[in-house]
Amino acid sequence: MELTNNTILITGGTSGIGLQFAIQLLNLGNTVIITGRNQAKLDEIKKRLPQAHIFKSDVSDPLAIIELFKKVTIQFPTLNILINNAGEMRNLNLLDTSITVEDVNREIAINLSGPVWMVQQFLPHLLKQKTAAVVNVTSALAYVPFALSPVYSATKSGLHAYTQGLRIRLKKTNIKVFELLAPLTNTPLGDKFAGDFDSKMMMEPDKLVSIAIKGLMKDKFEILPGMAIMLKLISRIAPKFILKQMGKVAEKSWAHEKL
Ligand SMILES: NC(=O)c1ccc[n+]([C@@H]2O[C@H](COP(=O)([O-])OP(=O)(O)OC[C@H]3O[C@@H](n4cnc5c(N)ncnc54)[C@H](OP(=O)(O)O)[C@@H]3O)[C@@H](O)[C@H]2O)c1
Repeated sequence: MELTNNTILITGGTSGIGLQFAIQLLNLGNTVIITGRNQAKLDEIKKRLPQAHIFKSDVSDPLAIIELFKKVTIQFPTLNILINNAGEMRNLNLLDTSITVEDVNREIAINLSGPVWMVQQFLPHLLKQKTAAVVNVTSALAYVPFALSPVYSATKSGLHAYTQGLRIRLKKTNIKVFELLAPLTNTPLGDKFAGDFDSKMMMEPDKLVSIAIKGLMKDKFEILPGMAIMLKLISRIAPKFILKQMGKVAEKSWAHEKL
């Protein structure tokens, strides 16, 4: 698809991959709107990228999504691309009994329900545009779960399945449905896993996003940069092997814990 002269909403655009999308899509001549929960971070980004438009909005709150929709579509009636990027990844020890039933679901609300709600809310508007797209940012962990982040892994697998279903449903419409299955990327999201992975395995967010943008321009509906393609292939050829290998990374991290 053409990636100039669009009006693009990026959820979670104040950091990491979302921020890189904002920078590169602005450079290509698009109107860019970014969201986040933290007003101070949004104000900082506005100083850095004065052309970007900022809105404080939490994707894990359906009422906030309705509010965002009203404000954004009044101000930007040509909005035609939605990038569901906002996400959180926790190092969640399921044996930690202080985690409440309510709290254990937090990543589901942000990473899975959030994009599903965003699509549902913005779909009627996107259908009215000449060309439109939804880009869901999932993860290579959609193929193999990582036991340090079991709920996160489930959300990315779930969003992968939803995205495939959505693409089939929207096939005969003006809306193209893309998925970026990101590999390990050097952003603040991974700070709590420092030491669990070799930093050499990490992709830089500017490189990841430039690969993603090339993929979008070529209508590549599933974009698997770097190690993501490897993880997909190994999960098909040797699923038990890769599950065990990923499990070993988590077990190494737990080795010093008192259970
Ligand atoms: N980094 C990786 O290794 C990696 C790998 C695969 C996939 N991904 C995916 O890539 C996406 C971006 O992650 P990242 O690595 O760029 O992380 P990041 O640097 O931590 O950025 C996350 C962004 O999401 C926003 N956000 C978090 N919760 C939100 C909510 N409830 N509502 C609105 N905005 C929210 C954050 O801003 P506020 O805190 O201000 O809300 C921030 O702008 C995520 O979906 C992540 O799962 C990342």
